[in-house]
Amino acid sequence: MQGLKILGTGSYTPELTVTNDDMAKIVDTNDEWIKTRTGMSVRHYNNGEPSWYMGTMASKQAIEAAGISPEDIGLIIDTTITPDFHTPSTACMVQREIGAIGSIAMDINAACSGFVYGFDMARRYLMTDESIKYALVVANEDLTKLVDFQDRGSCILFGDGAAAVIVELSEGMFTSFIGADGNGTKYLFARAAVPQNPFITDRKKYSDGMPEGRDQYLFQDGREVYKFATKALPNAALKAAEKIGLDINDVDVFIPHQANIRIIETAAKNMGVSMDKFFVNLHEHGNTSSASIPIALDDAIRTGRVKRGDKICLVGFGAGLTYAAAIFEY
Ligand code: UT7
Repeated sequence: MQGLKILGTGSYTPELTVTNDDMAKIVDTNDEWIKTRTGMSVRHYNNGEPSWYMGTMASKQAIEAAGISPEDIGLIIDTTITPDFHTPSTACMVQREIGAIGSIAMDINAACSGFVYGFDMARRYLMTDESIKYALVVANEDLTKLVDFQDRGSCILFGDGAAAVIVELSEGMFTSFIGADGNGTKYLFARAAVPQNPFITDRKKYSDGMPEGRDQYLFQDGREVYKFATKALPNAALKAAEKIGLDINDVDVFIPHQANIRIIETAAKNMGVSMDKFFVNLHEHGNTSSASIPIALDDAIRTGRVKRGDKICLVGFGAGLTYAAAIFEY
């Protein structure tokens, strides 16, 4: 089977930290509520660092860890819901900074599942185009620019950061299960810029089915997303394993989307897998959307929790509503 070998990983965590007590200064909340309901303690906010900058720093670290030359990167997939520009893509910005000129470069948006979508996509490109030697999959999120700091139910959850991997095709096990349910678009969204075209006469004609809210901030129906997540996470992992007849208990380490410790615990229970197999670092980062899984992966690799030969399951869910799992050998 054609697998995907991770040659190197990297991450970027902004220095600015915001504790639960800091959050309590701006909304009606407290440390105990946040810890009990989410497991989170600290999140990192960018202090001016743009998305592309965070992605670049993470990518440079991944390139160094992989010991490759940036000119040999043939594909850059940048996963983000918070690009700095509508155009050019963040991938092109990162490409410029790391010096991988000539590679394919594009952004994809699958919200918090984005990195797993991108990881899977990289393999498909590598399998069909022999001229691509290495791929860079980088996730960068400046989520705090979307966060509604008047909404205590959501603002306490999110943080900023980035992470990246350099991959190449190699013999090995690989399976994925990826999809979306657009019926859930209304449960988690952030509207793009409102059109300024002065000739528009009827802005309200085309209803998008989204609830009225504070335009351009992140809206979340926490309970609906929670319900979806506790089903989608185990389902994606189990379906990915089933595709190749793998027993889910043969996975050594699960790297789940770091959205809420209760979601991860429920998913583990529903899958019949011990929580010990789940790598969790959400207490230190909060939810960084598509960057959350690769930040956790980089953390798990650098701290020795993930070792060469381990079977890893990356599994996430997010706005869309999307879900994605990939199982491979590290
Ligand atoms: O990347 C994907 C992103 N999103 C997610 O994964 C989010 C999924 N959802 C969740 O993680 C949870 O639903 C939340 C953490 C967002 C909320 O936890 P919950 O246990 O579902 O709480 P709830 O929304 O049912 O609210 C319970 C109570 C409410 O008060 P009442 O109505 O019972 O009086 C809320 O107003 O907690 C209140 N509450 C808070 N209290 C203190 C909501 N947010 C806060 C807060 N501090 N920050």
